[in-house]
Amino acid sequence: MSRLRVGIINVTGYAGVELARLLHHHPEVQLASVTGRSAAGQKLADVFPHLVGIDLTVTAELDEVDLAFSAMPHKASIEVILPLIERGIRVVDISADFRLKDASEYPRWYEFVHPAPELLQEAVYGLPEFHRSEIATASLVANPGCYPTGALLALAPVVKEELVYPDIVIDSKSGVSGAGRTLSLPTHYVEASDNVRAYAVEGHRHLPEIIQELKTLTPSLSPLVTFLPHLVPTARGILSSCYAQPKQGKLAKGREELKGLYRDYYKDEPFIGIVDEPPETKHTWGSNLCLIYPTIDPRTGRIIVISCLDNLVKGAAGQAIQNMNIMFGFPEAAGLEALPVYP
Ligand SMILES: NC(=O)c1ccc[n+]([C@@H]2O[C@H](COP(=O)([O-])OP(=O)(O)OC[C@H]3O[C@@H](n4cnc5c(N)ncnc54)[C@H](OP(=O)(O)O)[C@@H]3O)[C@@H](O)[C@H]2O)c1
Repeated sequence: MSRLRVGIINVTGYAGVELARLLHHHPEVQLASVTGRSAAGQKLADVFPHLVGIDLTVTAELDEVDLAFSAMPHKASIEVILPLIERGIRVVDISADFRLKDASEYPRWYEFVHPAPELLQEAVYGLPEFHRSEIATASLVANPGCYPTGALLALAPVVKEELVYPDIVIDSKSGVSGAGRTLSLPTHYVEASDNVRAYAVEGHRHLPEIIQELKTLTPSLSPLVTFLPHLVPTARGILSSCYAQPKQGKLAKGREELKGLYRDYYKDEPFIGIVDEPPETKHTWGSNLCLIYPTIDPRTGRIIVISCLDNLVKGAAGQAIQNMNIMFGFPEAAGLEALPVYP
């Protein structure tokens, strides 16, 4: 049987180039076309020497494909996706351009007016653990943000089962690749190394996405979420520590009951690991895993859930491939079986 022809738009960013690395060994697909503004006309393996086995030339326009991944920056992604949708090509968009259902959120968080609000209803939020059956039939999948993936997976069991009050704190730390490959002062080596800093303290653009998706679990919920991201001096990885107070009378049996709930909730999920010790970002590097450690602080009774993932894999390219696998009926873990890199 012929392989699915797939293309990557903007292979010159970190998410795009990670897609190329992972798709190269995918048993069901052929990486047929890659685009990139600054590298058009060059061999992909000349631009990125670690992709030595891939014989493809980077082009300015996408060739004919069955599925396109867009790894464009937000706002620019819509412009390349709309013509593809018109031609009936299925798309997984790694940018934020189709994640939010409410078009009025775009000017506020992304500083542009959404030109295709009708498509926001059609697009499926591509978190398989939340929306697997809708993803299977979707034409347009909006791959989640890296921070929301870790936070939502950490919080889903207790929010879905209505075990916590809606006052939730998410404290996240991200490696510098989360900020993309475009040069900027905060990601300059001298600024980012030996340093940790909080940013977007009064509101990060991933917040509306987190709230939107928590509400899909419990529509009556009015979540009061504080989300605080930090930049830490590592290339990859996101660690999120989430805090919530259990509702009166819930989880009376404590930590073991909470752990049992998480194990049961995620028992059929191929990429979620419920772990017995707090996970570390290096436990997930290069893999599509999200590791989760749920516990209860015995002094305050507060629930603490720590999750970690690789922002470029489960937080971007790996999750996009997981979505493609679901859309085309491939085994969900196809091309994503690699264990994390250590040390
Ligand atoms: N990094 C992550 O961890 C992560 C995780 C989840 C989602 N995402 C999303 O994935 C998308 C790509 O992110 P990234 O981190 O891979 O970005 P990136 O590394 O910063 O990629 C940016 C690249 O996009 C190209 N570019 C910038 N503006 C453009 C425009 N107007 N038209 C065409 N190309 C343009 C530039 O490439 P040229 O130099 O070749 O022009 C630039 O190098 C973003 O929407 C981001 O939000 C990223």
